[in-house]
Order: sequence, then C-alpha cells, then structure tokens
Amino acid sequence: MRKRVFSGIQPTGSLMIGNYLGAIKYWVASQENYDNVFCIVDLHAITVPQDPEALKARTREVTGLLLAAGIDPKRSILFIQSHVSAHSELAWILNCFIPMGWMQRMTQFKEKSARHKEQVSVGLFDYPSLMAADILLYDTDFVPVGEDQKQHVELARDTAQRFNSIYGETFVLPEPLIPDIGARIMGLDDPTKKMSKSETASGHAIDLLDPPDAIRAKIMRATTDSLREIRFDESRPGIFNLLTIYHLFSGRSQKDIEAQFEGKGYGDFKKDLAEVVIEGLRPLQERYRELTADPTRIDSILAEGADRARPIAEKVLAEVRRKVGLG
Ligand code: AMP
Ligand code: TRP
Repeated sequence: MRKRVFSGIQPTGSLMIGNYLGAIKYWVASQENYDNVFCIVDLHAITVPQDPEALKARTREVTGLLLAAGIDPKRSILFIQSHVSAHSELAWILNCFIPMGWMQRMTQFKEKSARHKEQVSVGLFDYPSLMAADILLYDTDFVPVGEDQKQHVELARDTAQRFNSIYGETFVLPEPLIPDIGARIMGLDDPTKKMSKSETASGHAIDLLDPPDAIRAKIMRATTDSLREIRFDESRPGIFNLLTIYHLFSGRSQKDIEAQFEGKGYGDFKKDLAEVVIEGLRPLQERYRELTADPTRIDSILAEGADRARPIAEKVLAEVRRKVGLG
C-alpha cells in the first residue's frame, strides 16, 4: 500500500511563488511515490469575509493553477472541500474533543485576528479543527505544507491521538512534511515578512500568472541591503531570499550561483533572476491558458474529484459516528 498524502490550499488571493516553491512543487513531485488527495478549502476561506462571486471564481482559478503546475487528476484526487460534507461534520465532532487551551496556542489565529480586528469570527478561531478533519478523513500519513502550517498539522495529530486513546485505534497519525529550502519565501518589498497571497501591496509577491514585465519590475524593485557580495547568508534576508528563489527555479547549486555572480552587482543579479523566474513560470502559464480555454473542463474534473473523495471520507466518518454513539 502506498502512503497517503493530503494537503489543502485556500482559494483566496492570487497564488504566488511562495505557495509554489513552499508547497505545490512538492505536491506535484509526491505524485510519483504516494497516493495523493489535494483539496481547495473554500470553507476555510470564509473564516474571513469573502465576496461570493470572487470566491467562486478564485476556486476555479486555483484549481486551474494546480492542474497547470502538474497535478494530474488521473493520479491525484483534486476536489473542493465544501463538495464533501463529511469535512464539516467531522470538524464539529472534533470540536467536542479539542481542548480550548490547544486552540488558544495557535499563532496563526493570533496574527489573523489582529489583522481582521473588527470581524473575528468563531470560525477563524476554530479553523484548525476543520483542518484536522480534512487531514484525518483520508487516513493521511503525510501533509506537505510550508512552515506556517506546521502547528496546525501537529494539532491534528494530537487530536487524532486523543480520540484514539478514548475510543481505540480510529485515525492514522499524520506527519507534516516541511521542505528544507523554500518553506518560508519572504516578501520582495519586506524580506522580514513572509510572502503572503493576501497581502495586496504591489511589490510584495510574484503571482503565478504575472506577465514578464510585472515580474521584471517587481524583482528590480525588491528590497536588498547596502552591501555588495552576492552570497547565501541568512543574516542578509533580502539577498538571501532572492538567491533562494534563484536556486529553486534554476535547480542550480548554491555554490554555482555564488560563483557566477562573484564580483557582479545586485542589478546584474536581479536582471538574471527575473529571466529565470519568467522562464520557470512560462510552461505553467501556457498550460493554464490551454486549460481554461474550455470552461467546463475544470468543473468536470472537480465533480469527479469529489465523487472519488466522498466514499473515502464517508467510511472514516461512519466509524467515528459509531464509536461516539451518534445515530
Ligand atoms: P495559503 O497561501 O496560506 O493558502 O498556503 C498554501 C500553502 O502554501 C501552504 O502549504 C503554505 O504553508 C504555503 N505557503 C504560503 N506562503 C508561503 C511562503 N511565503 N513560503 C513558503 N510556503 C508558503
Ligand atoms: N490551512 C492551510 C493553509 O492556509 C490550508 C489547509 C486547509 C490545509 N486544510 C488543510 C493544508 C489540510 C494541509 C492539510 O495553507
């Protein structure tokens, strides 16, 4: 039996290179060796206010980008969270087993609630319970995510352990898979802040669908420092982040890249980096255009994905209902 991989992504904002280098790239690669389930988590998206039309359009856009990046719907299950009602139902049941104190420790809630001050919903606080349900419904072994999601995956594991200790072996214990490099791509405008798809400042992120000129302009304006040497030095976050992006898109070794730019200036390096990113994204952008030329294609892939996901999730949910004494 192959091990199961599950991961999710929110259909909010435009997908950017942080999502690609920190998560999606690994999802695509994991199709070789694992049995994969990828979910577009629209129920998570509504934990903060969303425009209904935009949410629906973004859900299709994210699906198209995942397919264009190389998620193969024949090998992987790709579906929308709200199409499989077991997610909401298990989230409620888990709510009744997760101690308040565990939730109160979640750092992402602290950050997000500070950002959305006027409208902090119960759903935003409860977000990790729904995420635990997502993961546990599919007997997941591994959850490939960026660094920011590690704490949530650990909460899912702790929840599984707690449930198992009360009711006997029910859930598989999931483990996060965090890449060594790329788990935390930083903002181009401020390399001390994580690149985020919900940040709207124009020089902050490179979106996967950005045209070449926009990519060039953003990279040329990226914040660096007043030093000169082009080196992978973590104490210099601006140039370190740009070099990391270069390394991940080009596939070339760090030593090789440092040697190439020995004695050169930041301007030369940035010009080259822009071309590397443009070429790296070109095939994805072309495939995205082809895929979206037929508007029914994405919906039929999603319908088929939900049909394949549902029986797997329902089976686990039925066992949980029975053990808890529901019905
Ligand atoms: P989100 O944008 O929060 O829906 O995240 C989708 C996936 O991309 C998750 O696995 C995140 O951990 C990952 N991710 C988001 N931002 C970054 C970033 N700046 N660097 C690396 N990975 C990221
Ligand atoms: N919370 C994740 C994020 O913002 C998205 C997500 C929802 C997820 N459910 C998941 C990721 C289950 C991995 C597994 O990135």
